[in-house]
Amino acid sequence: MKDAVRRNFDESPTAYEEYEAMTGRFATLSDRLYDLVSARTTGPIGTVLDAGAGTGISSRRFADCGTPVALDLSRAMLEANPVEHRVQGDFDSLPFGADNFDAVVFTASLFLTPEPERAVREARRVLRPGGPVGAVAPLGWIRADGEDVFRPLSRESRSPASAEAVGDALAAVFETETGVWSFETTAEALRTFHTVPAMAARLYPRLSTDARIERTRELLEDVEGPLEQRWRWFLGV
Ligand SMILES: C[S@@+](CC[C@H](N)C(=O)[O-])C[C@H]1O[C@@H](n2cnc3c(N)ncnc32)[C@H](O)[C@@H]1O
Repeated sequence: MKDAVRRNFDESPTAYEEYEAMTGRFATLSDRLYDLVSARTTGPIGTVLDAGAGTGISSRRFADCGTPVALDLSRAMLEANPVEHRVQGDFDSLPFGADNFDAVVFTASLFLTPEPERAVREARRVLRPGGPVGAVAPLGWIRADGEDVFRPLSRESRSPASAEAVGDALAAVFETETGVWSFETTAEALRTFHTVPAMAARLYPRLSTDARIERTRELLEDVEGPLEQRWRWFLGV
């Protein structure tokens, strides 16, 4: 599973940045997570572990107010990340000592591991006592009639862990708060999102990259907007 996630993201930086240029979605999620986390700290945030940092959208947000350490499984995603401190690694098994960070954030990443409880225990270990952890996990794409986009298409968009599993893992270790962020979006944005190899893999994990993107394009070509994209946020202390 981890190898597949790494391989899929290794193929994804360009398409990921194209989707971001179109929607600004990950920058918005990073801004909102930043607001939640910074409300739990006094003064600058300090050293932040950006767990699943990708091409640096979340890292750049935290660089404004602290020192992010960008950790990612995918070398290609990390190579596009502009921050100074970058580490290729797995957030389920962190290469850092205890009490090393003032905050840990998982911006759209914690649901990508099949056992989020391992990553959460690691986050607890490397956080200084009382340091906050923030996370956001997808709840899906919803049509105007309230139906999940994929249900009538007889397809599930499946990630290794659900938002519920992410919440349970966090609540087992931290005092957590949670809520839902909802964004109006378009069918075009949905299609662009699924040109990212790692996102198309959620629908057709067994197909080759080109084949899965083609099948995803066919699957989504008749979807009409407007749509709503929902994310569940978590703050743990
Ligand atoms: C959807 S991207 C989010 C990137 C970034 N946080 C942002 O806001 O744009 C998820 C990232 O998590 C990384 N990832 C997935 N599983 C991981 C793991 N077990 N350890 C470290 N990184 C992981 C992926 O390689 C990918 O770069």
